[in-house]
Amino acid sequence: MTAIVIDNLTKRFDDLVAVDNVSFSVKSGELFGLLGPNGAGKTTILNMLTTLLVPTAGSALIAGSDIKKDPDGVRSNIGIIFQDPSLDIGLTGRENLEFHAMMYNIERSERKKRIAEVLKVVNLSEKADTLVEYYSGGMKRRLEIARGLIHYPRVLFLDEPTLGLDAQTRRSIWDYIKNLNKEYGTSIILTTHYMEEADYLCDRIAIIDRGKIIALDTPANLKVQYKRDRITLAVPDIPESLVTELEKRAWVQDILSENGNLVLSVSKGEENLPELFHLLHSLGVSVSAVSLHTPTLEDVFIHLTGASIREQDGSRRSAIRDRMRRRMMR
Ligand SMILES: Nc1ncnc2c1ncn2[C@@H]1O[C@H](COP(=O)(O)OP(=O)(O)OP(=O)(O)O)[C@@H](O)[C@H]1O
Ligand SMILES: [Mg+2]
Repeated sequence: MTAIVIDNLTKRFDDLVAVDNVSFSVKSGELFGLLGPNGAGKTTILNMLTTLLVPTAGSALIAGSDIKKDPDGVRSNIGIIFQDPSLDIGLTGRENLEFHAMMYNIERSERKKRIAEVLKVVNLSEKADTLVEYYSGGMKRRLEIARGLIHYPRVLFLDEPTLGLDAQTRRSIWDYIKNLNKEYGTSIILTTHYMEEADYLCDRIAIIDRGKIIALDTPANLKVQYKRDRITLAVPDIPESLVTELEKRAWVQDILSENGNLVLSVSKGEENLPELFHLLHSLGVSVSAVSLHTPTLEDVFIHLTGASIREQDGSRRSAIRDRMRRRMMR
């Protein structure tokens, strides 16, 4: 059975179309990622899929249950880890988990076993009996993840699961998510702003911008599709003859000057480097440093979601310059 089938889902808040006619499916056992800038509509999509928000139009099936017609059926099959903290800080970690397990009618002995298990996974066994009020931000996040897992959901929704966590904890949570997905066949849909996380975890990714899906594929295919290598050359003076020659090459897509460097946007950078060196040599251009950058998921993301800037100023070169500047400022 397909884990999630989304059919023309739309959500309006007054004049704002937060989710605009979105359709896609998540296969059973798939790890699926939603990427998009702040305000793109990711949380709103998850809120509708988890029955917390009623769609303005469209529908969705979660593990076979319709979000509108059978919300209880949906809720019994899913686990949710919210973007905003939703723990009871007046209870201990263990009590928070107990309470959640009871809501899912997990019987007492099983409850004990599972609580110990999930606490171990998120490395909180020692803090189990401390009030959540005294947890650090990362500990709270880990406890929320533990809570979302306790009833072994068939479909797990994770809204920015590793936001604000240290590198070690993030990695251990990635491993756990992967393991859960592999061993138990749990279908998982997650949102994230960490490109590395999406790339590492997800079988497929949908990139959302202003409520619409603008790309959907495997991380590898997304990178191939928007492939652009970048060659940076430290050249003290950029001779006009070099630029003229480079403009003739089909594999050179863009030529920029940046902080005294010559930056080329090219296809098949590795293959074309020898020709570039040959050209530099024949023109007598001396270069003090060279670097080749192959595209990452982040490049794809910026390329796609930075498009509006390009539309506004009408110039491809300056748009790319703007995007690079933005990236450098981060
Ligand atoms: N209850 C609401 N009432 C009015 N507008 C809302 C409401 N919830 C969300 N929005 C708006 O809908 C849009 C999408 O918000 P959403 O929270 O889904 O974005 P997001 O992709 O999750 O962003 P982020 O990456 O910042 O979490 C935003 O413009 C937001 O202001
Ligand atoms: Mg969000």
